[in-house]
This record gives sequence, structure tokens and C-alpha cells, in this order.
Amino acid sequence: MPKVTFLPMNQICEAKEGESVLDVAINNDVPLQHACGGFCACTTCHIEVKSGEEKLSPMEDDEEERLDRVMGGSLHARLGCQAKVHGDVVVEIQNIGHGH
Ligand code: FES
Repeated sequence: MPKVTFLPMNQICEAKEGESVLDVAINNDVPLQHACGGFCACTTCHIEVKSGEEKLSPMEDDEEERLDRVMGGSLHARLGCQAKVHGDVVVEIQNIGHGH
């Protein structure tokens, strides 16, 4: 099974092939925000990919547009709800949620 490592807490989670990074976070009580519920409409789920970028599903146009607006086009930024996991990745959460 693919593994997703969440920074900065360094939590390692098992993922099912094709699950989004947000799904993995929710299933493992990782505090990744998702104000719009995973519909690519809020950007609170944004993450910085530290390694394994090629193991994530490619970026769609609407995701890219959203990210451009919040991150100024950071090369390694993704929306957690849009990035599907197909292998081991390490991601850093940009908006840490409160509580679990
Ligand atoms: S949860 Fe809103 S854009 Fe990902």
C-alpha cells in the first residue's frame, strides 16, 4: 500500500491506491483543513509536496488556477483533495487545523 507522510507532525499513514491526500488525512485524523468538503473550491487543503510528486495524479486546470491565486504558483503546491495517491509521498500541511 502507498504511504503518505504528513509534515510537520511526521505522521505516516497507509493509503489506498487512488485515494486523495485529503481522504487519507481524514481517515487518519490528520488535521488537514477542507472547508469546501473536497470540491476544489476553498484551497484550505493545500499542501506542499516534499517528495514523490510523480506519484500523485497530475494537476487539473481548475486546481492549477486556484493554487496560482493562493500560492503565487509555487511549483510543489497541490490541493490535498485533488491529488490522488499512487505511491509513497511526503507532503507538508500549510494550514494546520485545530484539534482532532
Ligand atoms: S477541500 Fe476545498 S479545495 Fe480542497
